[in-house]
Amino acid sequence: MRILFVDLKTQYESIKEEIDQAISDVIFDSAFVGGKYIKNFEQNFANYIGAKYCIGVGNGTDALFIALKIFGVREGYEVITAANSFIATSEAITTTGAKVIFVDCDSDTYNIDVQKIEKAITNKTKAIIPVHLYGQPADMDPIIDIGQRYNLNIVEDSAQAHGAVYKGRKAGTIAPIACFSFYPGKNLGAYGDAGAIVTNDEELAEKARMFANHGRKEKYEHEFEGVNSRLDGLQAAILDVKLKHLEKWIERRRSITKIYDEELKDIVITPFVPPDIRHVYHLYVIRIKNRNNVREFLAEKEIHTGIHYPIPLPFLKAYKYLEHKPADFPVAYSLKDEILSLPIHADMSDDQVEYVIKHLKIAVKKL
Ligand SMILES: Cc1ncc(COP(=O)(O)O)c(C=O)c1O
Repeated sequence: MRILFVDLKTQYESIKEEIDQAISDVIFDSAFVGGKYIKNFEQNFANYIGAKYCIGVGNGTDALFIALKIFGVREGYEVITAANSFIATSEAITTTGAKVIFVDCDSDTYNIDVQKIEKAITNKTKAIIPVHLYGQPADMDPIIDIGQRYNLNIVEDSAQAHGAVYKGRKAGTIAPIACFSFYPGKNLGAYGDAGAIVTNDEELAEKARMFANHGRKEKYEHEFEGVNSRLDGLQAAILDVKLKHLEKWIERRRSITKIYDEELKDIVITPFVPPDIRHVYHLYVIRIKNRNNVREFLAEKEIHTGIHYPIPLPFLKAYKYLEHKPADFPVAYSLKDEILSLPIHADMSDDQVEYVIKHLKIAVKKL
């Protein structure tokens, strides 16, 4: 049995009619840039998240960059984020000209360690980007509190957390601004690159919308220089179709991970989820000794797995100039050789889930 890590073809087949209709409607209307399909999705996504405004942009990386720019982040400032994320988070910081300051992660949730944030603050700190890693919200209350005490801007990196909930609030509505990615493999994924910024603040929403559209409101009246980063009509229409299925897909993910938890908790370290959190399991990450051998064994059985991420951000070649040592981020550093992301998507059958569990058990016993 072949178990794909993400199976977008099966997902497409399950909603083919709706998707095909949506795509042909956009083409028929020539509504490629701007227009009703984008407006509809932005409104529907804002409603789903529980935010007032949603601004569709080109991708999640741009969403983060734009959010930082409209807060005035630039050269001379520092922005704090987690040591273990995808490079997009830190890249968005450095492309503003600011310096990225990494903070180690918590050894249970793998989200940014809120106890270590204050030590990283200097008089140059302008913002913090907590990442809701793997689909589990970071511990936002203390982060918001730090932001208020030090007068810092908080930007939620919700790229992996559509529909996640933190103490009754959806990820993306806790800080003044949040950024989503709709990269195809995300829980809500487009058929190409796409992203969004959400906020309850009208002024921020207007600035973000202008920044993403060459700094303009009207066609040739540019009030400042921005970028060209817009959600396009085709992606918006596709996302609007998929949004209707998102809750059902999240619940399927959660029911699969419940089985994983139950069956695997005695042989590997399964994800730790604090109370009052709805984890949406964009990724189901276990911790295991002998990770590489286990992964190889699973690959031989055609079970595709992932590692998120094999090299923590501070140790990437891209950040060599920061001269970080393993002792600076002991938790992120120790996780890198033990984490393993198991296949998880809403179209996995019960048989496929059983197949993964069975072979993981064999691997752990054997290796
Ligand atoms: C945590 C995180 N932040 C930001 C991004 C950037 O999103 P995109 O790939 O849409 O630019 C991603 C996804 O790729 C991500 O996983």
